[in-house]
Amino acid sequence: MSQQQKALFLQSKQGQFAVGSRSIPKPGRGELLVKIYSAALNPVDYKIQESGIFVETYPAILGVDIAGIVDEVGEGIRTFVKGDKVFTHGSFSNDQAAFQQFTLAVAEFTAKIPENLGYDDAATIPLGFDTASAGLYSDVYGIGLTPPWAEGGFKKYSGNPIVIMGGSSSVGSYVIQLARLSGFSPIIATASPKHEAYIKSLGATHVFDRHLSADDLKAAVSKVTSSPVEVVYDAISLPGTQQVGWSLLGPKGALILTLPASVKEDEGKERRAIPTFGNPHVQQNKSLYSGSRAKLGKWVEDGTIKPNRHEVLPNGLEGIPKGLERMRRGEVSGIKLVAHPQDTK
Ligand SMILES: NC(=O)c1ccc[n+]([C@@H]2O[C@H](COP(=O)([O-])OP(=O)(O)OC[C@H]3O[C@@H](n4cnc5c(N)ncnc54)[C@H](OP(=O)(O)O)[C@@H]3O)[C@@H](O)[C@H]2O)c1
Repeated sequence: MSQQQKALFLQSKQGQFAVGSRSIPKPGRGELLVKIYSAALNPVDYKIQESGIFVETYPAILGVDIAGIVDEVGEGIRTFVKGDKVFTHGSFSNDQAAFQQFTLAVAEFTAKIPENLGYDDAATIPLGFDTASAGLYSDVYGIGLTPPWAEGGFKKYSGNPIVIMGGSSSVGSYVIQLARLSGFSPIIATASPKHEAYIKSLGATHVFDRHLSADDLKAAVSKVTSSPVEVVYDAISLPGTQQVGWSLLGPKGALILTLPASVKEDEGKERRAIPTFGNPHVQQNKSLYSGSRAKLGKWVEDGTIKPNRHEVLPNGLEGIPKGLERMRRGEVSGIKLVAHPQDTK
């Protein structure tokens, strides 16, 4: 019999979670078997349970943010060896998901964890960073700017203002850092005031209370910059934040969204609303992410990119459903929740 591991199963569409056993998969060509030490939670995980989106095959294993140690190397891989500490962006297929003790990682979307970073820090990076990157740099799922890891991209947008709605969110915190590397200035973010110092430490130049009215925010932004705002990244993308973001945009600006658009684009599309998709497993994103992975390991090592702050949930995989419930209730603020699958009893 093949070796068994523990996994957290969403038992049926919109059903309940339960820990059970499944076989440890074998890595194929271009894949790594990773023993997971830390898995981060994301809003999409509770949304899948709540509304049945994205996943069709049940019982299903969720989670895409993974950090662990390479246990076995598939054919054709020269860049990783057994024992490497890695972080990777998984997918919603049971063999590649995060909420289990072992997973298959696509080597192309995997990076080594530098010595100065823990598994929990590393697990907070993949989805948030990839979503921030896609919105800013993808031609298909974003506004197609030149990424800072590509030739000529570093600080290319110096002097251009950017507004980030939801600067304390996981996605928002990586948008701020990438905006800094792209040279945007000023970098204006909205958040709860208690996160101001943290958000400024990532590179925001101005932080405004996320509860300000659209008019008050517009007045505050116009005091900071007289240039038209051509890029608003709405990391939250609720109808209310989209409306405020849209109202801040200059005549030819783009509003990048993490959820489907609820704002109505202008006739003739002078201003654009662009929903992003931070998934490396789709063909349209592959080259973008293989470019960023080449640089990401170095950037997290030298502190250029800071992982999210995190809180470790108790009880291994068993602790995840309560964490997702806190997220659903909007009780997670300026922090990423992570779980330790190996601690499952
Ligand atoms: N399209 C994609 O590929 C993709 C990928 C990843 C995520 N997403 C979506 O993007 C959204 C953000 O994900 P995430 O992981 O970054 O979330 P998260 O970190 O869990 O979000 C929590 C944060 O949201 C902030 N927030 C809530 N309402 C806000 C508002 N009205 N204005 C400003 N900030 C607000 C809170 O800020 P304060 O604590 O400061 O109040 C809190 O820090 C989710 O809807 C998620 O499903 C989409």
